[in-house]
Amino acid sequence: MLKILPDPSSIAEYVSAILVAKIQAKPDVVLGLATGGTMEPIYAQFVAEARQSKLNVSRLTSFNLDEYVGLSADHPKSYSAYMQEHLFRFLEFDASRLHLPDGLAHDLAAHCKIYANKLLACGGIDLQLLGVGGNGHIGFNEPGTAFDCPCHVVELAEQTRIDNSRFFAKGKTVPVSAITMGMAEIMQAREILLVATGESKAQIVADWYQQDVTEAIPFTVLKRHPRARIILDEAAASLLPDDALQQRMVANG
Ligand code: GLP
Repeated sequence: MLKILPDPSSIAEYVSAILVAKIQAKPDVVLGLATGGTMEPIYAQFVAEARQSKLNVSRLTSFNLDEYVGLSADHPKSYSAYMQEHLFRFLEFDASRLHLPDGLAHDLAAHCKIYANKLLACGGIDLQLLGVGGNGHIGFNEPGTAFDCPCHVVELAEQTRIDNSRFFAKGKTVPVSAITMGMAEIMQAREILLVATGESKAQIVADWYQQDVTEAIPFTVLKRHPRARIILDEAAASLLPDDALQQRMVANG
């Protein structure tokens, strides 16, 4: 389903309400969490609503999508630090239930297997949050990744490193590789919310809409998922053709 909302703050309200309702309905829910600029207003809104409704988050489990190889959990630019900064520090989570890949793991391949197995042992993901890279990547599954690929180590695409350099200080280089949950784990999630905001995502969103499912644009695989919602703001939807906008009227009711 395609959902188009005016701006990032209305998306934050929409997604946050879904998260709150999910946790209320199933306190031991397993969430798949994402990082990136797109998620920041969503986490801020969720924290505000969770506080207001005195939501109990202590029984939920989370698995983050990815982490840079070579960055420790307390490195300020690690995704672990991002999660602390934008979400984990604000609410009473049970830290033992919050999972991220370890960017310093000695044996990275073995660590990927352990991470994927831990996720399986927790019953898989109930609700997966996703952003999308400018080249269509989800998690850090870059264009060309096989759809059945499990959690793995990936060499980051040049465009991804350029896009993400805005999060790093001048002169600091973006790591060359990362651990990412695979397309396989993402597609096994029972429900998926992919969010794209801003003009910089408009072209890849239009490509996604117009093309068949292809490994060249990883997030096209979501067309095969029975419960995936693609949530866009007007800017990210600005290059969609007219038929998509008609669908928007149906989807938005
Ligand atoms: C990063 C992350 C993705 C994220 C994407 C979009 O590289 N690995 O999980 O969805 O890029 O990021 P942003 O929201 O900052 O545009």
